Amino acid sequence: MTTIRDVAERAGVATSTVSHVVNGTRNVDPVLAERVKAAITELGYRPNALARSMRRGRTHTVGLIIPDIANPFFSDLARAFEDAALGAGYSTIICNSDGDEQKESGYLEVLLSKKVDGLVLIGDSQTSESLRHAVEEGPPTIAVDRALDDMPVSQVMVDNIGGGLIAGRHLLDLGHRDIGVIAGPDGLGASAKRLEGFIRALSEAGLTVREERVFRGDFRAASGRAVIKRWLEADSLPSAVFAANDLMAIGALSAAHAAGIPVPSRLSVVGFDGIPFGADVSPALTTVTQPTAEIATTAVAMLLERLRDREAPLQKTEFSVSLLVRESSAEVGLQSDSPEPANVPSRRVGHGRVVVHPLQRRG
Ligand code: RIB
Repeated sequence: MTTIRDVAERAGVATSTVSHVVNGTRNVDPVLAERVKAAITELGYRPNALARSMRRGRTHTVGLIIPDIANPFFSDLARAFEDAALGAGYSTIICNSDGDEQKESGYLEVLLSKKVDGLVLIGDSQTSESLRHAVEEGPPTIAVDRALDDMPVSQVMVDNIGGGLIAGRHLLDLGHRDIGVIAGPDGLGASAKRLEGFIRALSEAGLTVREERVFRGDFRAASGRAVIKRWLEADSLPSAVFAANDLMAIGALSAAHAAGIPVPSRLSVVGFDGIPFGADVSPALTTVTQPTAEIATTAVAMLLERLRDREAPLQKTEFSVSLLVRESSAEVGLQSDSPEPANVPSRRVGHGRVVVHPLQRRG
């Protein structure tokens, strides 16, 4: 393997000169610099990243742990994150935890052993000891999407309660009174808060959510399909359904289509996330959109700030969400022989506010 010494000999300079050219740590006479670069090319020299990071005390890499890389919400977020981090000179190691605490712990160990400079976590398990160890002993950490409330981390969240509220209000405004909910996985704050907001919308209208109208999904399409099938088998399909994420909503659309149930004239469907794919299903999905790219770039900015100053105050940013009305929701009782709504132009309803509150440093 070619070493820095081989390059120095080939270029006729000191090894320190080669190091300055490779690491940009000092201005080198242009003629000498050119000789070094020519020698590097001729010999195919690749600087030893580990040795360089040991010297610098930085690896210029960050770790990103997401729960489900197959879910477009997370893959879109990871893509935006990786772009923003690279633009700031950091490579990203993306890890898929599958929402499994053990797998998440394993990846935390891997990332710590690779000396990543920072960690960004969409964590499922707030209680794991390895997570607490990583946050308290490891590099600066940012929690995204799922709060790690009792840990010293900055956070980038969305207004989940507000999202459930505008989804419920939208369906009530369309005249629906028998509305089902496909909730997210138990134990996740996002799931509970979306349901809380939805229940609040109905209570504003003097309605309560009946127990048989709330089913727990797992944020995957199959669970959305299963709920629609269950209501059909019990001959108790509601007139509308709110799903706590787009994949479950698309599963519901698919089950309705398979059973010959017209959407939206017999069943209105509303999702949550705003994944691009929602525009391509038929009918196009009405959904509560998250500002996915902004969430990612804000997480990068927060991490960079903590890398610059580990004593910087912790922050919490909460993005608002908005309703994107497409074709999968319509007024209740639309006659089945009435023409499906014309290609209703999508329109956004919602409140554009970002709330930033500095978190009290703990510990
Ligand atoms: O689709 C996956 C869901 O899990 C999203 O709504 C996101 O907010 C995460 O909590």
